[in-house]
Amino acid sequence: MNVSKILKAIYKVAKKEKVEVYAVGGFVRDRLLGIKKKEADIDFVVLGSGLEFAKKLDKTLKEEGSLVEFPDFDTARYVFTKELKDGTKKKLLEIEFAGARSEAYDKKSRKPKVESTSLEEDLKRRDFTVNAMAQQVIASGLSKKIIDIFGGQVDLENKILKTPLDPDETFSEDPLRMLRAARFVAQLDFGIDKSALGAIAKNKKRLKIISAERVQEELFKLLKTSNPSIGFQILYTTGLLDEFLPEISALQGVEEIYGQHHKNNFEHTLKVVDNIAERTDSTVLRFAALLHDIGKPGTKSFLKGRGWAFDMHEHLGLKMVRTIGKRLRMSKDDTEYIGKLVRWHQQPIQLMDEGVTDSAVRRLIVNLGDDLDDLLKLCRSDITTGNPKKLKKRLKNYDYLEKRIEEVMETDKLRDFQSPVRGEEIMKECGLKPGPTVGKIKTAIEEAILDGKIKNEYKPAKKYFEEIKDEYLKKVNKWERV
Ligand code: CTP
Repeated sequence: MNVSKILKAIYKVAKKEKVEVYAVGGFVRDRLLGIKKKEADIDFVVLGSGLEFAKKLDKTLKEEGSLVEFPDFDTARYVFTKELKDGTKKKLLEIEFAGARSEAYDKKSRKPKVESTSLEEDLKRRDFTVNAMAQQVIASGLSKKIIDIFGGQVDLENKILKTPLDPDETFSEDPLRMLRAARFVAQLDFGIDKSALGAIAKNKKRLKIISAERVQEELFKLLKTSNPSIGFQILYTTGLLDEFLPEISALQGVEEIYGQHHKNNFEHTLKVVDNIAERTDSTVLRFAALLHDIGKPGTKSFLKGRGWAFDMHEHLGLKMVRTIGKRLRMSKDDTEYIGKLVRWHQQPIQLMDEGVTDSAVRRLIVNLGDDLDDLLKLCRSDITTGNPKKLKKRLKNYDYLEKRIEEVMETDKLRDFQSPVRGEEIMKECGLKPGPTVGKIKTAIEEAILDGKIKNEYKPAKKYFEEIKDEYLKKVNKWERV
């Protein structure tokens, strides 16, 4: 099912039912910006019942797709998926139908109050002017005429985020929009209206009526953008960050003692997040980058002869990650994964300082397991020096470390291997039953290979076996003999 096919199907039903249907929101915005998304997600406003319309459409569509109904809100979502070879389903298109409505959180309640209204009222109640435009569904697809009551097109051109109503009203009605503002500024690379910024600062405490799950979801959408730092700067300057991640705000600031100052860990952290965004699409890994230094303010000290120190900040960081994970209702797996990266992010640096020995590399491999590649991405992103020479040198150190990791992994593969001279052959040649001596001879052959004394091949292993076997047979227990 593609977009033009679905628009035609919608038009047919709309004509038959004599209702008007409009595409609204992000779909209209992105089309005007020339942005094509891999996964289309279209919101439609129906001048009538959204749910009833979706049900009628459902009857006419025979293709794979499923309807999810939300009768309490008079909305319904239609999801088209494609089954992949491995049996999993891939989302192709998601469309949502809602009756023209206003939806607002009142002063106390966590549940929005929904009332049906005209299209204009509906658009007025939306978050930003660039998201408050509509295009009617017509026979050929979408009407060229854009319903744009609040100057969304001009704001798109000027790359500025503004609210259709007084921002105080827009944000107070749905406080999640303050987080959305930071996300859209980063996602679209837009500026933000001064009065909207002021309204975020004023209404920040209202965020508490939004569920932790929705806050987390929006935070992750910000982390998904290519320069999340832009959004985090807005969250910090407005004070909104304090309302859900005060640990990040606490990284701000530079202290100076005896002319020595430490780096600004807030600015550093934001650079690390932007850096890692270039290396991975994983938002959980990007979140780990945001949290990697949160233990620093709590462990900061100024030591005579040494200067600023943040000893054990990675241990405190792990504890703090668990607190944040609970607060944002993150899954246990994600929390533990982030905690692990925060806990170990200093180890590769220490390892390089202390010497890249086999055993140190092996410890790193064992501690991190499958997450080692992700840790190294974080470590590379953690280099924020403005000096290109230093940057190059430090990245090179990581190239070397990765080479050493590969080498040790190779050897470890060797550790899993079996002696080329197998137990059965040892027993037959020595006249032994299964018992400790057979094991000892096998281990001796394997150790000789690992120590590089002989090659990992049958002939030299057999030769070595012939040389050492008598030594072991001298000490064999009687019962082990055939
Ligand atoms: N909307 C709103 N207030 C919210 C959430 C959504 O006014 N808290 C409106 C906006 O008009 C928005 C539309 O609902 O454009 C659809 O919301 P959503 O799908 O969350 O965002 P998009 O704008 O479509 O952007 P994107 O797909 O990039 O997330």
